[in-house]
Amino acid sequence: MSVAPRAGNGKISVPGILSRKSRSLDGSFATNQKITCLTAYDYPTARLLDEAGVDILLVGDSLGMVVLGYDSTLPVTLEEMLHHTRAVRRGTQRALLVTDMPYGSFHVSIEESVRNAMRLVKEGGAEAVKVEGGERRLELIARLVEAEIPVMGHIGLTPQSVNALGGFHVQGKTADAAQQLERDARAVEAAGAFSIVLESVPREVGAQITQKLRIPTIGIGAGPDCDGQVLVFSDFAGLTQGHMPKFARKYANLAVEISRAAAEYCDDVRAGRFPSDAESYHSPAEKRERLLTPERT
Ligand code: KIV
Repeated sequence: MSVAPRAGNGKISVPGILSRKSRSLDGSFATNQKITCLTAYDYPTARLLDEAGVDILLVGDSLGMVVLGYDSTLPVTLEEMLHHTRAVRRGTQRALLVTDMPYGSFHVSIEESVRNAMRLVKEGGAEAVKVEGGERRLELIARLVEAEIPVMGHIGLTPQSVNALGGFHVQGKTADAAQQLERDARAVEAAGAFSIVLESVPREVGAQITQKLRIPTIGIGAGPDCDGQVLVFSDFAGLTQGHMPKFARKYANLAVEISRAAAEYCDDVRAGRFPSDAESYHSPAEKRERLLTPERT
């Protein structure tokens, strides 16, 4: 397995992401250049996104829903995350590679969680891990950071809590809920995380938390005031079938393009238009005659 490229030559690093945020004159915190993040699950996509200049590639456990066809992210295993992290690692030179800790990989004990995160780094080539949850992850995040594993937090709508939350709903809509989110964000920062994903929260809550934290916030459905944005690749590329949340802007329509291409290919094969003579290999001229002439006995 190849190891992560070293810093230099524009390589995005954890300190580089942290340094995008600094204190403004009024005491609040602001980013000097917004952080871009997309999820990636395979080698060719990682290469394209990396070469296009995306700062962070996240091997999200959304893998389970958008690539593996599960109903939720809950069934995703550590082995599946490792498999896809290795593929993304091979396609990534410049971007920071972050991998989600899947459900069940950090819920049993701190020791087991650190061991699992280390596997994502040692065997997968991840440069940081993402952990869902706020205040209740304080000790875990601190222990991961102590073990030299940079952590990206994730609060708001945390899909691994879908059963506890009763569905995929916008979070932080009441004053109490917004205050809890702020406490969660502060706990994640205090534990040593280098950034935090805010998912599906009102714009005002995203802005408030962003202004108060020293670490960058990366929003998904959290409004434009976050320090960066993340989208799930399938939503971004127009591969998601069915319902899309309103924040999921489609930057391409690959589902339409792939369906059109597949139908055209079927038509061409069935009509004998594919492959053409130019798309076929040919025997050398001197052998051609012998090959085409039936042998006499
Ligand atoms: O799994 C994932 O893709 C994520 C993003 C939505 C942030 O956690």
